[in-house]
Amino acid sequence: MRNAGIAVIWLAAAVAGGQDQPVYKSKEEELPQRVAPQPVPFSHKVHAEAGSACKDCHTTAATKERAGLPQADRCMLCHRTVKADSPAVQELAKYQREGKRIAWVRVYRVPEFVFFSHANHGKAGEACETCHGPVATRDEVAKEVSTTMTSCMNCHAAREVSNDCHFCHSLGY
Ligand code: HEC
Ligand code: HEC
Ligand code: HEC
Ligand code: HEC
Ligand code: HEC
Repeated sequence: MRNAGIAVIWLAAAVAGGQDQPVYKSKEEELPQRVAPQPVPFSHKVHAEAGSACKDCHTTAATKERAGLPQADRCMLCHRTVKADSPAVQELAKYQREGKRIAWVRVYRVPEFVFFSHANHGKAGEACETCHGPVATRDEVAKEVSTTMTSCMNCHAAREVSNDCHFCHSLGY
């Protein structure tokens, strides 16, 4: 799969070669894209109103490639006491007790042959909302902002960041 992806990129790179502005335009995504219900109900709106900051739960969103998704241990820091008798919270407590991972249904994903890291985007001052929409006002997260190649490139062009193919795609060297 990975090799096939790289071969396609080489081919497209050869076609695009020598031009300053990429001529390729991705097919537009239909947004918002909803995902299947989460294994444990979770509302960003409720938690933002309770005063939680994004980085309280997505602990590596500013420092690492991946933002990270919290597991029951982190939730239970509060829920040992907050709403401890709610059925949803009791289910959460069960995950923790049994040491089971919560298999959160993913919303944003780029293919494996694309390199994306949160660290440098955060350092450059890009806000979560620019790429993920007004998450703090949502009970359910749906994909609201496009992650096609053209949408990445449009921002890079606007910020005068490189749009060389190898910036986002490993060409195998
Ligand atoms: C910083 C503390 C804190 C953390 C961490 C936290 N919560 Fe909450 N949670 C709250 C507060 C406060 C409420 C609102 C309680 C209320 O309505 O009075 C809440 C409400 C909820 C509710 C609604 C309960 C009900 O029946 O009304 C669920 C479900 C929930 N949280 C799940 C989670 C999950 C899952 C995580 C981990 C991913 C998590 N929480 C992490 C503080 C926290
Ligand atoms: C109390 C913990 C908590 C806080 C605070 C929190 N999140 Fe989340 N976030 C979660 C959990 C749990 C999920 C997975 C379930 C879901 O998608 O709703 C998630 C999912 C997401 C996703 C989708 C990830 C994917 O699958 O691609 C985005 C984007 C996101 N959060 C952004 C934010 C932003 C932006 C903030 C601050 C405004 C924030 N989160 C605050 C717990 C939290
Ligand atoms: C420049 C755009 C951009 C910004 C800014 C950004 N994200 Fe993301 N985020 C993405 C993309 C693209 C993905 C999918 C990455 C992948 O599949 O590897 C993603 C994935 C995620 C995920 C899924 C799980 C993971 O570990 O990566 C969460 C959670 C998330 N982002 C939260 C945040 C939060 C919180 C902030 C702000 C601190 C933020 N993002 C800022 C583009 C962005
Ligand atoms: C909202 C604007 C914005 C969007 C959208 C965006 N980027 Fe960026 N990107 C930047 C900025 C600004 C930098 C420069 C960061 C720096 O100075 O290091 C950057 C740098 C990068 C880098 C080099 C730094 C690093 O992290 O290694 C890569 C790779 C990259 N972006 C990939 C992507 C991909 C892939 C997407 C789409 C999924 C994307 N970007 C979407 C603004 C954006
Ligand atoms: C700013 C980051 C970025 C740059 C620069 C970039 N790409 Fe992409 N590319 C992506 C992303 C993100 C995807 C995945 C899009 C998706 O998920 O739909 C992608 C996908 C692709 C694909 C698969 C087909 C498709 O549209 O999904 C090919 C082929 C490709 N890129 C070639 C190139 C070539 C050739 C260049 C140089 C002209 C280039 N890319 C530059 C981010 C980038």
